[in-house]
Amino acid sequence: MIFYFSATGNSKYVAERIAAATDDHVIFLRDVIRSRCYQFDVSQERRIGFVTPTYYFGLPSVVSFFLEKLRLTGYRDQYVYVALTCGKTTGDAAGQMGKLLKSKGITLSAQFGIPMVDNYIPLTKLADPQEIERELDAAEEYIDEARRVVRARGTGDYNRCQGAAPGVVTALAYSAYAHGRSTKPFVVTDACIGCGLCQEICPCGAITLADGKPVWSKPQCVRCLGCLHRCPAKAIHWKRADEDKGRYYNPRVEPYRPLT
Ligand SMILES: Cc1cc2nc3c(=O)[nH]c(=O)nc-3n(C[C@H](O)[C@H](O)[C@H](O)COP(=O)(O)O)c2cc1C
Repeated sequence: MIFYFSATGNSKYVAERIAAATDDHVIFLRDVIRSRCYQFDVSQERRIGFVTPTYYFGLPSVVSFFLEKLRLTGYRDQYVYVALTCGKTTGDAAGQMGKLLKSKGITLSAQFGIPMVDNYIPLTKLADPQEIERELDAAEEYIDEARRVVRARGTGDYNRCQGAAPGVVTALAYSAYAHGRSTKPFVVTDACIGCGLCQEICPCGAITLADGKPVWSKPQCVRCLGCLHRCPAKAIHWKRADEDKGRYYNPRVEPYRPLT
């Protein structure tokens, strides 16, 4: 069983690649949260995986929320791992996960860090498509290692992306995320075609449609940027100042489409 969260496809790609190597099935956290059913029977599972992006050197709020609610029945010390995708550095995001799991009596057996394409356009600009392909090619080595180790249920710290002083960096940076995440910077322009995809994919129900256009009706969101990156009309912006920063969805994986 592999639980994953993903806004722009990197973590979806990693979860599906690991699943293909292990025959484990994947569960998307947005669907879990919409269903409000957090209990899973893992008695038949040999591995329990979590695949998530790194946000502010920690976990996306939607992942922490899920972990707080999670109830695993039939857990009997199976192999549990986390694979963190990131732009470059995960900090101690795995430590955060380890603590949340420990509070449920679950032990984290292994961690992996996988540097992919950084989608955080408030701070970065996307490279051209060739460079993106090169970055994704470079990630394959990390993904292959995770596939091999997870398949063999190897334990330990395989994360080469923690960076310097990960505990300190996470403690300092993550508080900005934990107390921030305002939806105020999101702006929608007249280019909006009213398709409603942003509302459908938002993992925390922060977007409603008014007169066919998105309105951020919650003061905070996960800040995953899925709405902005996936808008087919490029009508969603971050403070209007992101025109030249590009949009991203991992080209190696089928985009998530809601069933309803
Ligand atoms: C709010 C936010 C914060 C981020 N913080 C970090 C970070 O601390 N370190 C890092 O290397 N990448 C960071 N990133 C980049 C993502 O971790 C990276 O692009 C990830 O692979 C995206 O996963 P996804 O495509 O599955 O959504 C951040 C992205 C977002 C949206």
